[in-house]
Amino acid sequence: MSIAPGRVNLIGEHTDYNEGFVFPAAIDRYILAASRPTTNQSTMVSRSLGAAQPFDVNLVNPGEVTGWAVYPAGVAWALRQSTGVNLPNLESAVDSKLTAESGLSSSAALELAFAVTWNEAAGLGLSNTQLARICQTAENEFVGVKCGIMDQMACALGKAGHAIFIDTKSLDTTYALIPEDLSLVICDTGQPRTLAGSAYNERRLQCEQACAALSVKSLRNARLHDLESRWSEMSETVYKRAHHVITENARCISFVDALDKRNLLKIGLLMRASHESLRDHYEVSSPHLDFMAEAAWDAPGCVGARMTGAGFGGACIALVEESRVEAFIHSTEARFALKSGTEGSFTECRAARGAHILKRVT
Ligand code: GLA
Repeated sequence: MSIAPGRVNLIGEHTDYNEGFVFPAAIDRYILAASRPTTNQSTMVSRSLGAAQPFDVNLVNPGEVTGWAVYPAGVAWALRQSTGVNLPNLESAVDSKLTAESGLSSSAALELAFAVTWNEAAGLGLSNTQLARICQTAENEFVGVKCGIMDQMACALGKAGHAIFIDTKSLDTTYALIPEDLSLVICDTGQPRTLAGSAYNERRLQCEQACAALSVKSLRNARLHDLESRWSEMSETVYKRAHHVITENARCISFVDALDKRNLLKIGLLMRASHESLRDHYEVSSPHLDFMAEAAWDAPGCVGARMTGAGFGGACIALVEESRVEAFIHSTEARFALKSGTEGSFTECRAARGAHILKRVT
């Protein structure tokens, strides 16, 4: 049996596919996969997702499966591509405490749950960082979603009580303790992440256009000063996208420092600035995410809050003084309902360990 967590991102949004910095944490909301080897095709069932399309781990290729089987099948395919080793087919039961639409990376968790299972069952000996890369390949080339590496890295490398500062270029990671008296509260708008796929790819393209205009390989290498001095060489939209990425990388680094120094005021300002930049410059927020962030900013005990993940629906993440979580939720819930006319849902969670084996496949 394997277990793989979801993730929240504290700051550093839409920076990972620009070789930038991210600061996510794996959370104690998991996917569990209980598997045993079979001589037939791989079959997978889940109470929430239903039965997956059966596939043969050693024969399956992109485009041949639909539905949620694309995630395990994609991982099997990417593992074969990178190791050349045959894998055992599995009979698996999957249980998920992660709803697919709230933006907590249920797809990365599903991928990692099977990656660690096959890694162990076939004796591949790959590290969790290697598995994260393989899962990203599965998602990019098999599932067809051009995501960055943040979700897979967070899900693979999470550590209890810690957030992970990741340099997405080198994949160097540094763990940072989240103080015991600060809680992570997921403030879910309940709005599905419509548009996320097409708008995500469009943003990636606009970042590439900014790189071309600035003559840099990635926006990680761009300076705000250069962007400002060359504003006339790109469209206003491309300028705004690049402005977000460059400033968000700086905010991410400042945030890690502020957390280390326990500068709560600064943490709050940085999270708010991140949300505003995602709303006004990157344009990936939504009215409901804005209502939620605004409701959280004004609530008792709130250190900081912002949208988390790709955007266009999903959830905000708030850092809240632990002793005031109840009052925070009460107030945010009421204000969000008043502003949006809909109900949100609120979950306090803890930073958790990354994907691992609970019981060997026999
Ligand atoms: C999604 C992607 C990540 C990252 C975020 C935005 O979650 O899977 O790679 O790009 O959006 O920060």
